[in-house]
Amino acid sequence: MASPFPVLSASNRPTPSRLLALCLFAASPLLAQLPGSTSATTFAPFLLPLETDPNASGTGSILNSNGLTLALTNPFFQPLGTNGRTCATCHQPANSMSISAATVQQRYTLSSGQDPLFAPIDGANCPDAVTSSHVYAISDPANPHSLLLNRALIRIGLPWPPKGIKPEFTIAGVWDPTHCELNTKWGLTSSTPTVSVYRRSLMAANLKYDTTVA
Ligand code: HEC
Repeated sequence: MASPFPVLSASNRPTPSRLLALCLFAASPLLAQLPGSTSATTFAPFLLPLETDPNASGTGSILNSNGLTLALTNPFFQPLGTNGRTCATCHQPANSMSISAATVQQRYTLSSGQDPLFAPIDGANCPDAVTSSHVYAISDPANPHSLLLNRALIRIGLPWPPKGIKPEFTIAGVWDPTHCELNTKWGLTSSTPTVSVYRRSLMAANLKYDTTVA
């Protein structure tokens, strides 16, 4: 009769490489959170080639055909400038390289709104919406990061009209809940006329396909 207990046979004995695989596997729930990858100062040291993470709809995975990713040296996880952000600030491996509202809310709570993700320039409804260090409740309609917190949307300010283009239509602000389109400093009537669109980071965060950031 087969033993009800696991038996260490030659085929399942923990060899060093199996032990390493086991350690990586055991570490993966930690990596799934990538606790520090949204700030430039601390991050999980590596990503598994195939990572699968639970989410509200089931699971999401990323597959890196190049194998293990060393976050310590990979450019994607290095600071972009002085504001503490990395590419992974907005493109989270645990969110299949996009970012979810749940992750944003977690970052907000853990950092009291101080995570680099919430930089006012594009991590708020409008750059001048953040007027104090007050930490608003996530559900507070007055929260200046409400679009990012509730919809994971980053503000992208586009020049209007686009450079070198004579538009065939005009844009009129009728309803401006973010107070950014009609804002005299940041909006359509400012000295650098701008229309703000709010977009979630795309999953295709692969430099090979990038036309704007690189
Ligand atoms: C502040 C947040 C943020 C950071 C930081 C960021 N991204 Fe993005 N990324 C976005 C958003 C938002 C979009 C979607 C833009 C859109 O839809 O117009 C995007 C889109 C992309 C796309 C898709 C572009 C396309 O046209 O399909 C790629 C590729 C990308 N990002 C790569 C990167 C890389 C590489 C870095 C680091 C150098 C980076 N991103 C840093 C927010 C960010």
